[in-house]
Amino acid sequence: MYLERDEERILSGECGVDLQKAMEILVTLGKIYDARRLIPVKSAQIAGVSYKTIGDAGLEWVKSIDAEVAVPSILNPMGMDREEWEQMGISRDFYRKQMEILDAYRRMGIRLECTCTPYYLPGGAPSFGDHLAWSESSAVSFANSVLGARTNRESGISALAAALIGKTPCYGYHLDENRIPSIAIRVPFSLSGSDFGALGYVVGDVIGDRVAIFELEKSPAPSDDELKALGAALAATGAVALYHVKGRTPEADLFEIPEDAIILEEKELHRVYEHAGIPDLIALGCPHLSMKELEIAAELLRGKRVKRELWLCISRHIRDARKDLVRIIEASGAKVISDTCMVVSPACDRFDCIMTDSGKALKYIPSMCGAKAVFGKFRRCIEVALGEADEAT
Ligand code: F3S
Repeated sequence: MYLERDEERILSGECGVDLQKAMEILVTLGKIYDARRLIPVKSAQIAGVSYKTIGDAGLEWVKSIDAEVAVPSILNPMGMDREEWEQMGISRDFYRKQMEILDAYRRMGIRLECTCTPYYLPGGAPSFGDHLAWSESSAVSFANSVLGARTNRESGISALAAALIGKTPCYGYHLDENRIPSIAIRVPFSLSGSDFGALGYVVGDVIGDRVAIFELEKSPAPSDDELKALGAALAATGAVALYHVKGRTPEADLFEIPEDAIILEEKELHRVYEHAGIPDLIALGCPHLSMKELEIAAELLRGKRVKRELWLCISRHIRDARKDLVRIIEASGAKVISDTCMVVSPACDRFDCIMTDSGKALKYIPSMCGAKAVFGKFRRCIEVALGEADEAT
């Protein structure tokens, strides 16, 4: 792998041990994947923030780093809402350790918004063709597929290394040839809302890490929120980091439709809705809610009271920007939760059955929270929380 003179200097340790280690990580990855060189990145998004997932070893590691990031960088959700942690049932010990992790990232110059939807933040959306080092799988999918930026599915460690150096090895989805779809997914029936999460849940399981192009034959062009849900689920049941939707996503029309194709049957999607049960928590916002989704939730909850615990997970930026909507939602007894989510917070471990409209959360809730997961449409989830639907079937 070719290194520039200044890159060699960092690798030799001339710029300090932390940058040397970061460069070693990038060069090792580059060698594994046959990268010819490093390329500059516009931004980094760093997972591995929740104390629930990284534990004491991760805490000690991030605390030991004495260096600043070279490019704009932002954190993924952590294990709690930094203001509402007590109401979430988070212990003081967990709070203290989580804040130590946050403080270590702050010292590195990383933005502390803690969201998996950094593209909703001012200045957070990459442009078409930008090279990035993002790590949260739904954010990676959205950046690659919906925005036409270029990032591999980084680990928290390799994203942090890229943030410190400002570069990443040039392989995988940074290269044109790896963005070509190898399988077509034909959907000959109409989809809307949470159906896209169900679609991703079914298809990701079948295609693994292949690049797919969807032909949505009976559906109107999906919204950004619907594509967000599709990509998150594809990346959860599979390892899909990039997909295209014919006529909708920015690179889709550059490619021929591959011969290898799957024609989906409607009953396959219906099976996702068969994940049923009586939830003691309804959790929406995986990935974190957009402004539009928050507006819809506020309209559904206006003037009503929830009968079951309802969480709406959202970035702190959107929460602060729409305090009017947050007031309506909180008046119903629902909780608006920032900095974290139903999967990475230990606060969910006390529930037995969690209902969600997210294909990604449906996949991870059983293993990460030890709870049964139930799937339903966004509106249906809120009706269940309000007691307007008796149970989630
Ligand atoms: Fe985001 Fe948590 Fe889902 S990080 S994509 S809300 S699992």
